Amino acid sequence: MDDIDAMNAEPDKKVFIKTYGCQMNVYDSQRMEDVLSGEGYVGTDQPEAADLVILNTCHIREKAAEKVYSELGRLRNYKHGREKTGNDMLIAVAGCVAQAEGEEIIRRAPIVDIVFGPQTYQRLPEFLHRRQAGESAIVETEFPTEDKFDRLDQSDRVRGPRTAVARGVSAFLTVQEGCNKFCSFCVVPYTRGAEFSRPVERIIGEATRLVAAGVREITLLGQNVNAYRGAASDGCSWSLGHLLAGLSEIEGLERLRYTTSHPRDMDDELIAQHATNPKVMPYLHLPVQSGSDRVLKAMNRRHTVEDYIAVIERLRRVRQDIALSGDFIVGFPGETEADFEATMSLVRQVTYAQAYSFKYSSRPGTPAADRSDQVDDYVKIDRLSRLQSLLGDQQREFNGSCIGREFPLLLERSGRHDGQLVGRSPYLQAVHVSSNQAQIGDMVNVRVEKAGANSLSAHII
Ligand code: SAH
Ligand code: SF4
Ligand code: F3S
Repeated sequence: MDDIDAMNAEPDKKVFIKTYGCQMNVYDSQRMEDVLSGEGYVGTDQPEAADLVILNTCHIREKAAEKVYSELGRLRNYKHGREKTGNDMLIAVAGCVAQAEGEEIIRRAPIVDIVFGPQTYQRLPEFLHRRQAGESAIVETEFPTEDKFDRLDQSDRVRGPRTAVARGVSAFLTVQEGCNKFCSFCVVPYTRGAEFSRPVERIIGEATRLVAAGVREITLLGQNVNAYRGAASDGCSWSLGHLLAGLSEIEGLERLRYTTSHPRDMDDELIAQHATNPKVMPYLHLPVQSGSDRVLKAMNRRHTVEDYIAVIERLRRVRQDIALSGDFIVGFPGETEADFEATMSLVRQVTYAQAYSFKYSSRPGTPAADRSDQVDDYVKIDRLSRLQSLLGDQQREFNGSCIGREFPLLLERSGRHDGQLVGRSPYLQAVHVSSNQAQIGDMVNVRVEKAGANSLSAHII
């Protein structure tokens, strides 16, 4: 480009994306950035300086959904300030609140220009052009017949790879979306639609590009990732276990993880991967929600406590050192003190390395929201604090049990002090080490020296 061109070139437009909710939203936000970079947008971390602000939202609990409206309140001032300068700021709401509330968002927050659901972001450039051409606020929440990955992959072929730009040594890769399970408390089947698996070759292609760009660890994502059934060019439908085996042949890829799994879909092929594939990490996030069969039935989880424990025993039989993480809901409608105690005793029996726990949040449109036996908030608060204190003890105990152990660490970023690096253990713990030689992206063997509530420190051996 010569100097005249450089002077005439349009300055980059700036986009600020704020991401709420699960890792699938993190992946989607990165794909949106990739799509927008083809439109001349560069990322910024200052919303007030952005030409386009996207809130990629989460609808899972009431608190998560309400955060969007307080953020929109803040953005209103920026947008009004900008209108005076004649250099407008576009505001878009994406993700699961967009899918669930659609038009309602524009009614509650008229400053919003574009509302689009999780299945339509590949059309973002089109939405922007339409709005800039003067169309009134755009709401697009259809589930298209053609899937978004297809559109992204097609544009790759035309314009060179734009999907999955690497952003570090550890990357997310969505392989499955949607949910057909309809747990009675959960909005995901409504916001993300029916289960869908991406074809095997597309995933292997994306993983290969990530690894070529420096990625060493890939976490396969799906709302029900172990329900994965992807079409492959060998004419077979691959399970998640099969896919993990296929991906582990990529040279330079050191580690594989997957999340989130449903207990009903932990099949033998997947469990066997934990025994035979050294690239599959000995760590599993396996939500159970409750330790009471009565509550599990009312939640429509379609498994019992015994089924769940049986899965864990199968896993521990093939991989003794596997560490577990889980999700729990307290105060589901009708949950008694005895039901809650059953959850506590399940936690004591299983023992978790880490876990997430939530107060039940009533979500409009889900069956559990209509029940007349909602649990009082003060009861939920009490149960949550008892559960979290038990889970916190278990996490500290697990971290403490790592002292003296040796394991490989994938170095991900630099630490706060000079010469300090932070990596991840096989069990997803953050581990601090000091070194003048080691670099981000290296795998190093370490011995753990100290353990805190949320991280470890170690020295390289
Ligand atoms: N597909 C995953 C979970 C997706 S949602 C699974 O089946 O395990 C992530 C977690 O949010 C859930 O595991 C659950 O613990 C929690 N959650 C979902 N809906 C909720 C609600 N209405 N109130 C409180 N927590 C909820
Ligand atoms: Fe929600 Fe249940 Fe589907 Fe998980 S399995 S996403 S909790 S409906
Ligand atoms: Fe939230 Fe949607 Fe993920 S509701 S948890 S962002 S699938």
